[in-house]
Amino acid sequence: MPLPASIAADRDWWRHAVVYQIYPRSFADSNGDGVGDINGIRSRLPYLAGLGIDAIWINPWYPSPMKDAGYDVSDYRAIEPVFGTMADAEALIAEAHAAGIRVILDIVPNHTSDQHRWFQAALAAGPGSPERDRFIFAEGRGPAGDEPPNDWMSEFGGPAWTRVIEADGRPGQWYLRLFAPEQPDVNWNHPDIHAEFEQTLRFWFDRGVDGFRIDVAHGLVKDADLRNLDGLPFPLPDDAPDGLEHPHWDQPGVHDVFREWRAVADSYAEPKAFCGEIWVGRDHRLTAYLRPDELHTAFNFNFLQARWRAGDLRRVISATLSAHATVGAPATWVLGNHDVCRPASRYARPQELVEPNFPNLQKYLGLPSDLPTGHRRARAAALLSLALPGGAYVYAGEELGLPEVEDIPMAARQDPIVSGTGGENIGRDGCRVPLPWTSGGASFGFSPEGSVAPWLPQPSDWGRYSAEAAEADPASTLALYRRALALRSQLPALGEGDLAWVGDAGGEVLAFTREPGFGCWVNLGTEPVPLPEGTSVLLASDDLVGGRLAPDSAAWLQFA
Ligand code: GLC
Repeated sequence: MPLPASIAADRDWWRHAVVYQIYPRSFADSNGDGVGDINGIRSRLPYLAGLGIDAIWINPWYPSPMKDAGYDVSDYRAIEPVFGTMADAEALIAEAHAAGIRVILDIVPNHTSDQHRWFQAALAAGPGSPERDRFIFAEGRGPAGDEPPNDWMSEFGGPAWTRVIEADGRPGQWYLRLFAPEQPDVNWNHPDIHAEFEQTLRFWFDRGVDGFRIDVAHGLVKDADLRNLDGLPFPLPDDAPDGLEHPHWDQPGVHDVFREWRAVADSYAEPKAFCGEIWVGRDHRLTAYLRPDELHTAFNFNFLQARWRAGDLRRVISATLSAHATVGAPATWVLGNHDVCRPASRYARPQELVEPNFPNLQKYLGLPSDLPTGHRRARAAALLSLALPGGAYVYAGEELGLPEVEDIPMAARQDPIVSGTGGENIGRDGCRVPLPWTSGGASFGFSPEGSVAPWLPQPSDWGRYSAEAAEADPASTLALYRRALALRSQLPALGEGDLAWVGDAGGEVLAFTREPGFGCWVNLGTEPVPLPEGTSVLLASDDLVGGRLAPDSAAWLQFA
């Protein structure tokens, strides 16, 4: 079905889109099994259209044994029955388009599920077989081969290798899996892998999907000799010499894959776009993925990891914009996702105690938390990110001001990081708790009444964050997001373009203007600050104090 004319005309949609991330397990459950599903998403399309977002990104919805919540894919061209059917998926795509919302799927090319037909064939076929060559099998070290082939570590804890039992019943080769044991890494030096993923892209593009978020995009290609890390950190330090490469992240060969993928996207008449999940630290290594013949966009994780401090944010924003300008790609502004502690809870911590690196809940647990401050800062951060040049991401629940759920009982936690680290890392479940839609009810409107309990327990006070409660409160975070998104679509200054920093706005104030006639002022200090003369306030994240901008708040201004 063609796109409706209202959105079809916007061919550069990905340069300025606000993309709403839906974690399907946690969004809305239509059939009462305690797990969100596609028909749940369909039922909430009016809410999403009312919010004013341009696109939805849906985390993996493919058949999966769910060892990593769907990032262990056993069939890339079908729908996981827990989430629904192919007919449901097609209906969602059509209905989203009719509501003016584009649809982005999540593709997982670094690894499959161990239940994928190719990995099962590799296990059965034995060492040296062409089937094993589609993955990364190697002999172990040591006389009995019982030590992993090299010193690479899993992101989920422990060595990155798992040993298999061969057909003769004896321990045999090892396979690489940078994540869970059930997520074997595929071999991108194999032509079958290229062909398979190209077919998958086309399968979904042919069904009207508008783009893909690419999981672990910087990880696909591995050093051919499986060189040891020997203590090499990642991301590489800012002053890493040219030519120093990490053996399994951000290898130069990954760029060839994305050139092929770009050609696939560009072969469609309608504008398809990619967004890479690329944790590489240094800006020039990120924007290398955004050269005109590679990916369209990438998540800006340096922004997500920045502390709530004027200097830190300004440095990150400036570095982002100048690096993206070198390749002509739009920046993205990201505050959260399904892997990191929710922004309200991150910003609730004393920022001087926070390291600006991977923001998993684990690193915040021991730090004091002032949630009201965190909420104020998250609202201000929302106005900041929606005012910056480029596109933006909103993770479901951010518009409700959801905090991280920090006290999920250990036994209820599902994230494989918990088991992978023997419980030392409590994982990412706290940002994945099913959404509250209503103030009351057994699951706060997540599932129909009388359903089984949600797959992760919701806190007893979850209803105060619900969409229903927010609807009734003109000062709610939901109301703030709606007004901001409505203004964003009306004001020509917002979306893609430039900004000019205002140098003299005061100490802990981040201020910039955009043409025509727009200003964004953010107060990160502890005292109210004056707003510039001759401006009127379009929107503020908090009440002004005697005409001044309150601490931890932001305002959008109209210059006369
Ligand atoms: C990405 C996903 C994360 C997943 C991992 C392995 O980082 O965002 O949720 O666990 O890849 O696929």
